[in-house]
Amino acid sequence: MRANRFEGRVAIITGGSTGIGAATARQLVGEGACVVIAARRAEPGIALMKELGEDKALFFQCDVSVQAEVEALVAWTVDRFGGLDILINNAGATCFGGYTPDLDPALWHQMMGVNLHSVFYACKAGIPHMKQRGGGAIVNNASISGLYADYGFTAYNAAKGAVINYTKSLAIDHAQDNIRANAVCPGLVDTPMADALDELKVRDAWVENIPMKRGGKPEEIANILAFLASDEASFMTGSIVVADGGLSAATGQPNLPKLMEKMAAAK
Ligand SMILES: NC(=O)c1ccc[n+]([C@@H]2O[C@H](COP(=O)([O-])OP(=O)(O)OC[C@H]3O[C@@H](n4cnc5c(N)ncnc54)[C@H](O)[C@@H]3O)[C@@H](O)[C@H]2O)c1
Repeated sequence: MRANRFEGRVAIITGGSTGIGAATARQLVGEGACVVIAARRAEPGIALMKELGEDKALFFQCDVSVQAEVEALVAWTVDRFGGLDILINNAGATCFGGYTPDLDPALWHQMMGVNLHSVFYACKAGIPHMKQRGGGAIVNNASISGLYADYGFTAYNAAKGAVINYTKSLAIDHAQDNIRANAVCPGLVDTPMADALDELKVRDAWVENIPMKRGGKPEEIANILAFLASDEASFMTGSIVVADGGLSAATGQPNLPKLMEKMAAAK
């Protein structure tokens, strides 16, 4: 953490009250930013605001899948902190919705609303304010599930895939406005979102597939979001940064040495 990397900057972090978003809020405030934490549930958001200090961190309760609420978030941020420099589109939700014939269209639309439309609404409302400041940085928290597919996670895969290509559209459309847009693609990260793996008792199987044999820490993703939001990434736009403990470096084919060991042991 550097003391002054975000001094004088104003940031919105959607889904900023828990997990990766909360770790990012702590980091940005620690490095001098004023941050608006936007999320649905009041309790964790207010607790984080108090932890970070209300002169530097404010909480705004909203549903990011509703355009009017996102517009209100951006307007309120500009009113309270005087502008907008950094937009971290981090709010998201996942679900196992089953294969396409069984997938409830309502769930499909819900996944698109939270993971994809929210990003468009925030960028649409936020970019004019960034232009007024002479530039800015957008960082979208996507997922490796937007680069590759998971069995039965159809809507999440589609939404995160769209976020990744939308990031590239933003990057080229607003390069001349001095607004950079980049995305991070985490693999498994130990946050409330990943608790579902414990409920299903499948975390061990998930971790076994990761070459580093562990999930990421929220702070390890926050470091990347903060870097991309900072001037240190001044020549990066349209970049998609993967952080997954090596998972997507593999082809997906079986681990041959392990397979051979198993076969030898079975003889
Ligand atoms: N945890 C992982 O394994 C993992 C992996 C890849 C990508 N991601 C992505 O990271 C991002 C952050 O997730 P996390 O892991 O920190 O989990 P998390 O559940 O702690 O955070 C998600 C946040 O989004 C907020 N949110 C959800 N729906 C919302 C809505 N409609 N309106 C406003 N806020 C809403 C929640 O309140 C919460 O604060 C998500 O976009 C997620 O898809 C997570």
